Amino acid sequence: MSHLFDFSYHNPTQIHFGPSSFSRLAELIPRDARVLLLYGGGSILANGIHARVRDALGDVEVVEFGGVEPNPTLETLARAVDVVRARQIDFVLAVGGGSVADGAKFVACAALYDGDGWDIVSGRHKPVAALPVGVVLTLPATGSESNAGAVVTRAATREKRVVYVPPARPRFAILDPQVMSSLPDRQLQNGLVDAFMHVCEQYLTTPVGALVQDGYAEAVLRALKTLADDFANRHTPAWRQNMMWAANQALCGIIGVGVPQDWATHRIAVELTALYGLDHGRTLSIIQPWLLRETIEAKRAKLGQLGCAVFGLPAADAEATIAALEAFYRRLGMPVHLADAGIDDADAAERVMQALRAHGNAALGGHAELDDAKTWRIVHAACSR
Ligand code: NZQ
Ligand code: ZN
Repeated sequence: MSHLFDFSYHNPTQIHFGPSSFSRLAELIPRDARVLLLYGGGSILANGIHARVRDALGDVEVVEFGGVEPNPTLETLARAVDVVRARQIDFVLAVGGGSVADGAKFVACAALYDGDGWDIVSGRHKPVAALPVGVVLTLPATGSESNAGAVVTRAATREKRVVYVPPARPRFAILDPQVMSSLPDRQLQNGLVDAFMHVCEQYLTTPVGALVQDGYAEAVLRALKTLADDFANRHTPAWRQNMMWAANQALCGIIGVGVPQDWATHRIAVELTALYGLDHGRTLSIIQPWLLRETIEAKRAKLGQLGCAVFGLPAADAEATIAALEAFYRRLGMPVHLADAGIDDADAAERVMQALRAHGNAALGGHAELDDAKTWRIVHAACSR
């Protein structure tokens, strides 16, 4: 293929960016709304974000639901759905990172669906309506604040799945880079690498002459690379502003329009979270270098382009680009093998393969024609001791 696919693009999330963005909350939520304020494990209580949100909301009726865990579970979100129904909530406001934003989208859909919530996550039920959702982002990483994705885990079966719920795409997102001041370095590293991977998944395939998409992808990757090189300045306003906008742009949908995508790193890495509870960003740096080595021929041209455009390599060289990527993750303190993440499990590779097979992700096909044997080699390289 050497041309763009047909596409239609519409991202209706209104983004309010900057230090004064919290004050917009009052006008963004109808005065007569009954709002569910959904949040995570309590970081917003300790860092003052909760107080700022409540202050900005004024006298709007608010019901709070905390305790949404990282990698949110169906089980916890189902309790939030019960609250929405019991209290006749008509607006869901997420205050948190990707987990809370994703949870809000699920809750907004599930509240209007009488069946089992897992039907939505598994794709058996495609929501056509949802309660309105807004997001106050506290952790730049996933892009969830302005996309239609939601990732939900069923704890009972250790299944973690991505679902697209366009009716629950946030109406608005509040992006104030100051909220990052309380983020631990680990979450900044995770966010940086997650955003970097989101661009890779939409870019590292085969060239189709997409000048705008390639140029834009490379700009976002270079920005993230610069932020990683400049990690010592992570507490400056400039660093935070760039990080927050880069992570949003990486997965708001614009980079991937009309071009082939390959989400295999994400699809495989998800099992490492489901099985071992690893942070999402860390699972990606464990899988991606090995996946690229296995699929190097299919991705050779784009890898070469990436190496020159982002890592300043003097010539297109796919092998050198993979080495540069791996060194980049290592410099940021990210694991590039399961053992680096402190997981000591002699059966890890078999366990991961079993889960991938059970979930239909062991032979993803795609432009690199991933089959069970290729996936097995990737997983063994990344997870075997
Ligand atoms: O729960 P609290 O107490 O808020 O603490 C969180 C959590 O422990 C903490 N945190 C967030 N903001 C903070 C803060 N701590 C101090 N100060 C702040 N300002 O950070 C921890 C991680 O939060 P989480 O929301 O889980 O992180 P992230 O934003 O990386 O989200 C990860 C989830 O998003 C999914 C992942 O699979 C995972 O479930 N993804 C969603 C995507 C999407 N919707 O498009 C795409 C991604 O590829 C990803 O799969
Ligand atoms: Zn991701």
